[in-house]
Amino acid sequence: MKDLSMHIMDILQNSTRAKANNITLEVLENYDADTLTLIFKDDGCGMSAETVEKVTNPFFTTRTTRKVGLGLPLLKQNTEMTGGSMKIDSEVGVGTTVTAVFGLTHLDRPPMGDLAGTMVLTIAAHPEIHFVLHFQRVKDGKEETDYVLDTDELYEALDGVSLQEPEVMAYIKEMVEENIR
Ligand SMILES: Nc1ncnc2c1ncn2[C@@H]1O[C@H](COP(=O)(O)OP(=O)(O)OP(=O)(O)O)[C@@H](O)[C@H]1O
Ligand SMILES: [Mg+2]
Repeated sequence: MKDLSMHIMDILQNSTRAKANNITLEVLENYDADTLTLIFKDDGCGMSAETVEKVTNPFFTTRTTRKVGLGLPLLKQNTEMTGGSMKIDSEVGVGTTVTAVFGLTHLDRPPMGDLAGTMVLTIAAHPEIHFVLHFQRVKDGKEETDYVLDTDELYEALDGVSLQEPEVMAYIKEMVEENIR
């Protein structure tokens, strides 16, 4: 994995594949705690306790097209390389929450990469899903940045204009970039 956005793309894809109607991603940069936390929450099909246990083992996947599922194991490995951790809370028929904590300034932490582009692409590919992105940056006890992108509000503001239009996607991407800079 080159950057965290690749992980984010993969974990969001797990949620869309799990037929979620609502997907929330929280990106929490905390310079005081020196942590970068990603929290993925979905209301998809969920996983049994047995599956959750197996899911961090790279030789497990319910997909038939490929033998190994690598998204979650790689994410876990990358968090641990930075002194962090990953955990999965899931319930069948209710949904799944994946929490990944990285050491923010750890030398082995992958860079964020193109978070705005990843979000806009994922959102545009699934107009039927309600997405919320919450980005927060805390430094010296203060919230430097606190930004929420909610697709309910986005579609209302777009007023019928399609997010699939390349110019619209580029515009939204720029807006997100500006807000999380
Ligand atoms: N949000 C989720 N809801 C329900 N099941 C999930 C969720 N995330 C992962 N899973 C289950 O865990 C398995 C492993 O996920 P993982 O991302 O590690 O691999 P994969 O998606 O199968 O393959 P890859 O990510 O390598 O394309 C999935 O196949 C799926 O069965
Ligand atoms: Mg996956």
